[in-house]
Amino acid sequence: MRSLADDAARLFEGARSVAVLTGSGMSQESGVPTFRDAQTGLWARYDPAELATPEAFERHPARVFGWYLWRWKVARAAKPHSGYYALAELGQAVPRFVIITQNVDGLHRRAGSEEVVELHGSLERFRCAAAGHPYDAELLEGLAADSQGEVEPPRCHRCSSPIRPGVVWFGEPLPAEALDRAWRAAQECDLFLVVGTSGLVYPAAELPWVALRQGARLIDINPSPTPFSPRADLWWNDTAGAALPELARAVAAISSKR
Ligand code: APR
Repeated sequence: MRSLADDAARLFEGARSVAVLTGSGMSQESGVPTFRDAQTGLWARYDPAELATPEAFERHPARVFGWYLWRWKVARAAKPHSGYYALAELGQAVPRFVIITQNVDGLHRRAGSEEVVELHGSLERFRCAAAGHPYDAELLEGLAADSQGEVEPPRCHRCSSPIRPGVVWFGEPLPAEALDRAWRAAQECDLFLVVGTSGLVYPAAELPWVALRQGARLIDINPSPTPFSPRADLWWNDTAGAALPELARAVAAISSKR
């Protein structure tokens, strides 16, 4: 009886260019709360979508900046689970392997993946609101939150505008260079892997359709069905932390028999 891992490994066989789109489900087993998870503690009373906007930062800079500092600290304390290392290993087995992530926690890079496109930016990067002057995150280490978790954003040394997180807020354009790399990877791949995304937020959610339209095979790894599952060559209804290491082992087993 062939397993899902065997079926997925056969789709990998012969692929020369693989693109992967990951969403917050990829980080779930590393303990990074997904964007829509109920916020905890001081942040439980806020709707994330109301904090992740330029208008919210304009109106309540200390609240928004404090929330991102908290999220950045949670992400830094998190450890990549075995699924991340499996993706880094699979990346070595294929001539071209591009990870496109909607996540801002930096876990793919920390697990050793080389080509990572951060569509929604990163919690690890900060810049000033007016001119995008980079701001060294090390300078934020000593900042203490008040009893509400709020932190007044520091000012840019060059233009005195407030410092903001280097993530894409609702209503903001995605970084053009990242979008271009992601689109090219989807247009040129033989195989597209979708891991841990509900496929509801565009333009990222368009990428699997771009790959399918040009003839790529599609694997959807998600314990719940997504808009991609019915069109996938394989819907692997399991978690990232369970499926990806099994896939890496099955791909290694096939290549060792060659
Ligand atoms: N392994 C794999 N998938 C999982 C796991 C897991 N352990 N746990 C949950 N999932 C799946 C869920 O079934 C769901 O389909 O991950 C998906 C998470 O979906 P969302 O919470 O909508 O996250 P995401 O798709 O990344 O959202 C996209 O929208 O909220 C904005 O900017 C934010 O980048 C985010 C974007």
